[in-house]
This record gives sequence, structure tokens and C-alpha cells, in this order.
Amino acid sequence: MLKTVAISSLILGLGVNYVASQNEFDYIVVGSGPGGGPLAVDLAKGGHTVLLLEAGDDLSEDPLYENIDRATEASNDPRSRWDFFVKHSDDPEQELKYKHMTWRNPDGSFYVGLDPPEGAEQLGIYYPRAATLGGCAMHNAAVFHLPSDDNWNYIADITGDDSWRAPEMRKIFEEIENCHYLANGTAGHGFSGWLESNQDTGSWLGNATDGTELLKVIAESSGSVGNSTAISDADLRTLVNRDINGPEPNRDQLTGVFGMATHTDAAGHRFSPANYIKQALKENPDLALQVRYNSFLTNIQWDQLSAEQPPAVMAIDYVVGPSAYKADPRYDPNQNTTAGFSWVGKELIIAGGAFNTPQILKLSGIGPAEELQKHNITVVSDVPGVGENLGDNYEGGVLSMASKPFEGFGNRYVVQLKTSASEGNRDIFLWPLNSGFEGFWPGYPDNYGPNVLTIPFVHMDPRSSNGGSVTLRSVDPFEPPEINFRFFGNDSEKDLQAMLEAVKFAQKVKALLPESSGLAPFDEQHPCTGEDGAAAADCSDEAIKEYLKLQTYSHHASGTCAIGAVDDPMAVLDSKFRVKGVDRLRVVDASVFPKPPGAFPVLPTFMISKKAAKVILEDGR
Ligand SMILES: Cc1cc2nc3c(=O)[nH]c(=O)nc-3n(C[C@H](O)[C@H](O)[C@H](O)COP(=O)(O)OP(=O)(O)OC[C@H]3O[C@@H](n4cnc5c(N)ncnc54)[C@H](O)[C@@H]3O)c2cc1C
Ligand SMILES: *[C@@H]1O[C@H](CO)[C@@H](O)[C@H](O)[C@H]1NC(C)=O
Ligand SMILES: *[C@@H]1O[C@H](CO)[C@@H](O)[C@H](O)[C@H]1NC(C)=O
Ligand SMILES: *[C@@H]1O[C@H](CO)[C@@H](O)[C@H](O)[C@H]1NC(C)=O
Ligand SMILES: *[C@@H]1O[C@H](CO)[C@@H](O)[C@H](O)[C@H]1NC(C)=O
Ligand SMILES: *[C@@H]1O[C@H](CO)[C@@H](O)[C@H](O)[C@H]1NC(C)=O
Ligand SMILES: *[C@@H]1O[C@H](CO)[C@@H](O)[C@H](O)[C@H]1NC(C)=O
Repeated sequence: MLKTVAISSLILGLGVNYVASQNEFDYIVVGSGPGGGPLAVDLAKGGHTVLLLEAGDDLSEDPLYENIDRATEASNDPRSRWDFFVKHSDDPEQELKYKHMTWRNPDGSFYVGLDPPEGAEQLGIYYPRAATLGGCAMHNAAVFHLPSDDNWNYIADITGDDSWRAPEMRKIFEEIENCHYLANGTAGHGFSGWLESNQDTGSWLGNATDGTELLKVIAESSGSVGNSTAISDADLRTLVNRDINGPEPNRDQLTGVFGMATHTDAAGHRFSPANYIKQALKENPDLALQVRYNSFLTNIQWDQLSAEQPPAVMAIDYVVGPSAYKADPRYDPNQNTTAGFSWVGKELIIAGGAFNTPQILKLSGIGPAEELQKHNITVVSDVPGVGENLGDNYEGGVLSMASKPFEGFGNRYVVQLKTSASEGNRDIFLWPLNSGFEGFWPGYPDNYGPNVLTIPFVHMDPRSSNGGSVTLRSVDPFEPPEINFRFFGNDSEKDLQAMLEAVKFAQKVKALLPESSGLAPFDEQHPCTGEDGAAAADCSDEAIKEYLKLQTYSHHASGTCAIGAVDDPMAVLDSKFRVKGVDRLRVVDASVFPKPPGAFPVLPTFMISKKAAKVILEDGR
């Protein structure tokens, strides 16, 4: 007997007649970001019919999106923006101390800061996402960085599935990469995959006087060279071309200056899942992949064939029309959407990103029973981990004004540090910028002019950031969920120590720049203040940690549908991406990581997308 256990769809309420034949697609993938986009292509290439639903449209040929130097502008673009407003803690007083707290003015505009005007509504801490073909890989900084081997081995350890071991994951990396910055055949890399990678060669070095001076002291203070005065341009060029994703057995302990690899093509243009999808359709117009833009999933419908069998995905409901989600700055309550409905032949794969995937699951009856019941949602599977374990990389930075404008800053290299708080691997990733970067708010960043030096950093291995959650505000599928990161929960002392050392590193770099450069002395804006910030009264270790605790920001959300041991009550997925307690449903996006993967999540998400394609094609039902 075919029993539908939950048809709570808004769409059905509209009395629309669906024109859809049963099992019209083998696989339906929801979300075209680094998790879902490549997976949809690979399943179609594997001989299946695939529907890819994407809430946004295609901007991949827009020059703004092709140029990674304009990533900040792209992430402010209302054509792709989804504006989330999050909390960093459960303490309202602490939230009010966040310098870029965002409010809605009575006239609808934003106010950002500590002193909101009368009548302004507190929105929260701004957290950008991209809803467009290619997902956040379309507006991100494109940093292309493998996590440590420990990140992969941890998944193998907790699940007992050795296909997650680091050497296996390296093979997947080699399979998908098409590397443009190393000689074809270089060990540890791929040269014929779909995912293009490239990096700046340091061609600016000969010209960039101030940038070269800065690089020299960074090279010395990070241990890449012993004596910055003796370093040649050729040595510097070698450093900024040093491969960050190499196969050295001790890679995860290597520190100092490296090149900044990016997901860009041979010409240096942004390369995202949008390119892969469009290339695949161009190469093979008969490929059984259909992409539906402006199509927003609202609900999953279920079959239950017998009481002994778990509920199985039957079909999906979605709406077609631009800007359906209320996080879209162009959202208009009066706009027209039409109902969409598709039968799922084999499996449904959700890849809406770390905020939307748990929201979709919960709305469809998969999540903590108590929370679902509060909203009168029929519980299809009680999976308490859905929306929990939200994690992120902590980020901070030292922002200072030089005594003169930088001339020829150059760009695009990174520094890796191993702090005293490390568990064995390098734990801080940083890079210098000749622009302000202090986190995210509508219209970010502030313009500090040509004298500014920001040294932002990412904590690669945070221990205390996995206590966050994504919970429903209502059953309205268009209303963004409540997101609370609960930063600096357990064991935060080591994380703060690591970040303190990143601050001290940046301060040391400034102190090493000779006065003859014209750049020193620097006027530090934060975390310390004043000339030669490190000596200032507000610059004790405790004061810096307190500043970091209040002002840390982040943009690498992960973990809200974590893979885990089958008997771990908080695990949402098994090691093959299958959702607990139901049939024919997987999750493949940054939600799956039990811990934040390394410094930057996009490359690991591309890798799990390929891994999922293999697993699903092998299962082959
Ligand atoms: C400003 C910014 C800069 C970043 N910089 C870097 C960087 O330099 N390096 C790095 O490694 N990482 C970076 N990241 C993070 C990285 O881009 C993300 O971790 C990665 O894109 C996550 O991929 P995903 O597939 O999980 O989700 P996403 O990229 O968020 O993709 C999800 C897709 O699903 C769609 N979707 C969601 N809900 C629905 C629905 N209900 N129906 C239909 N479609 C839906 C969305 O429109 C979106 O296209 C950055 C992120 C941001 C926000
Ligand atoms: C690298 O070499 C392989 C094997 O000859 C070839 O298939 C591939 O296209 C080359 N890749 C690049 C980027 O030149
Ligand atoms: C370096 O400067 C020279 C002279 O201004 C200019 O012609 C050249 O293009 C510059 N090179 C780079 C890589 O910026
Ligand atoms: C660094 O090199 C310069 C120039 O060779 C030399 O004068 C200086 O003493 C060296 N400094 C140290 C600390 O070795
Ligand atoms: C929605 O469609 C109706 C009928 O076609 C039209 O009258 C109305 O203007 C549309 N509304 C919007 C916001 O586009
Ligand atoms: C849930 O259903 C009950 C009983 O019908 C009703 O009283 C309650 O308001 C509903 N709650 C929500 C959140 O809709
Ligand atoms: C800290 O860890 C304990 C034990 O694992 C747990 O019960 C508690 O909820 C955690 N607190 C936070 C804030 O994460």
C-alpha cells in the first residue's frame, strides 16, 4: 500500500494541477554550489537523467563575477545576494558589543554600528551567501586550499570508512583538478580534471616597492628566510610561487610564505561549478541534465511502502520565480511565482548549503522531533543532529594605517603559522591586504584609503566553534532560519591563544619594517590602538583576547548535517551521505563536515561532491 506520510506542502494548498509524469528524473539535485553543481553533472555523465534546481539564475558570464579581484563587490551584488543575519552567542548584551551589528532603519535602510537610531530594528550579524548558478563559489575570494590530512582521517576514524582517508581524498583531488600553475605531471596534482586552478606568479615583485619590503619582513618573521635584508628578488619569487597544496608528507606542518592558489582558469578568471555545468551541456547537448533557474525547493513528499520500511522520498515541491526567499534583497511579497513539482525516480540530493539544507530537512519532517512538533510538522524521522554542530573558522585581523600610501602593494600570497596552541599542525592562515577587511556587513568593507594595511587571519582548526545551530523560525519555507554560532563555547582558551599569536605576528611584521621604508610607524586601529599599537595600554594579551572574543567574524559555515558513526545519535548522515531514518535522500554540501575543514571549505566541498558522485554511481540503483 502506498501511504503518503506528510504532504504539508503550501503548493498543494493552492490547488494547482501538476503536469508531471512519474519518475521523470533519476536524480534531483537541489543547489548548484560546490556540493551540488558538480554532482549533478557527474550523475548525468554517468548516464542518468538529472534535474538541477537552483534558486538563483546564471551570472557566470558577467565580468563582475569573472574577476576575482572584484569578489567583495560581487558579494554585495543584490542580483546574487542572500542576506542572513546571525548571532554569535546566546547573550544579547554580548551581541550588542559587536562593532558591525546591523539594524533596519524605519525607512528600510540598514544601520551598521553600536549606536542605532531610535526605532531601528536589530537584525543581527550580517552573513552573506550567494544564490546563483555556482553558489558561493561565484562571489567568494576563490582561495583554493586543501584541509589537513587529519580533517579527512577524522571522518574515517569516526565512521570506520577508510575511503575517507587522506590518501584516498588526495586521489579525488588529483582526479578533479586541472592545475594551471605547475608543470603538467607534478606529483600530488591533477591536470585533466574539470576544476581549474591557478595562482598569481608574483609578476608584481619587480615593481612593487612597498609590497616587496613588506613581503621581505613577512618572509623573515614567518621563518621562510633567516635574514630579510639579504633576500633576493628571485628568492621572493620562489616563495610566492611555493605550492600550498603539495603532497609533502609533512605538508600540514609546513609554515611560512606560500602562493595563493585560487579556483581560476588559465587566464585567471573565476572558475566555478557554473562553468562546469555550462561546459558539460555545451560539449554534449544531449546530456540528460536539466537546469531549472529561479526554482526554490519548499518541501519533500514521502512514500511509506510498509511499516517496516523507512519513509522514502517520492517527489518535491518548488516554486518558480525570482527572489522567492526572503533573504533575497529583491524579495517582494506580491511577486508572482508558479508551482513546480517533480517526481524523484531514484534519489534526491540536497545541496542548499549549511544554512538552507537543514532548513529544508526540518520543513520536510527530518530533524529534532521536539523542534518539529513545536511547529506542527509531522515527524518523518527524528534526527536530533539536523541543524546542530554548526561550525566555522574564526577570523580576525590587525588593521593599521601606514605613515604614507603604499606604492605597488602587489598581492596574493599567504602565510601559514603554527602557534603554541596547535595540536601538531599549522593552525593560522593569513595574508596582507592594502584595503580594509574587518568582517561582513551590508556594503562592507569600509574604505580606509591607500595607507591601510590589514593582515586578516583564519583560524584553521577551531575547537570551540561547533556549538552553533540552525533552527526554524516558522514553517514558512521562505523565511530564513534562526542561526546562532555560539562561538567560543568549550575549550576556547586554545583558540584564543592561537588567534592572539596571529595578532602578535602581524604586529611584529609592522615593527620589522624599517623607518626608511616611509611606512612606519603605523597607527593601529584594532585590536590595539595608536602608534606602535603593541605598546599601547589596551594591548595586553587579555585585552586582545577579549577583543577577539567579541569581534571575531566568519564566513565558512559548515557541519549542520554532519557525517558520523551510525550509532552516534547526533550524526545526520552515514559515510555515504545518506540521511538517517529515511530512504533515497542524501546531503552533499558543506553541511556534511563534522568539523570545519581546514582554512577554507570550498575545495573540500568540491572534493566531497566528486566522492558523492562515485558513491551514488556505485550504488547504481
Ligand atoms: C563572501 C564569501 C567568501 C568566501 N571565500 C571563500 C574562499 O576564498 N575560499 C573558500 O574555500 N571558501 C570561501 N567561502 C566559502 C565557500 O564559498 C562555501 O563554503 C561553499 O561555496 C559552500 O558550498 P555549498 O555547496 O555547501 O553551498 P553554497 O555555495 O551556498 O551553494 C548552495 C546553493 O544552493 C542554492 N539553494 C539554497 N536553498 C535552495 C532551495 N531551497 N532551492 C533551490 N536552491 C537552493 C543556493 O542558491 C546556492 O546556489 C566564502 C564564502 C563567502 C560567503
Ligand atoms: C596534461 O597532460 C595530460 C596527459 O598528457 C593531458 O591529458 C592534459 O590535457 C594536460 N593538461 C594540461 C593542463 O596541459
Ligand atoms: C612595471 O612597471 C613598468 C614601468 O612602469 C611597466 O611598464 C610594467 O608593466 C610594470 N609591470 C608590472 C608587472 O606591473
Ligand atoms: C642580515 O644581513 C645583513 C646584510 O647581509 C647583515 O648586515 C646583517 O648583519 C644580517 N643580520 C643578521 C641578524 O644576521
Ligand atoms: C502578477 O501577475 C498578475 C497577473 O498576471 C499581474 O496582474 C500582477 O501585476 C503580477 N504581479 C507582479 C508583482 O508582478
Ligand atoms: C499547532 O497545532 C495546534 C493544534 O491545532 C495549535 O493550537 C497550534 O497553534 C499550532 N502551532 C503552530 C506553531 O502552528
Ligand atoms: C561543553 O562540553 C560539554 C561536554 O561535552 C557539553 O555538555 C556542553 O554542552 C558543552 N558546552 C558548549 C557551550 O558547547
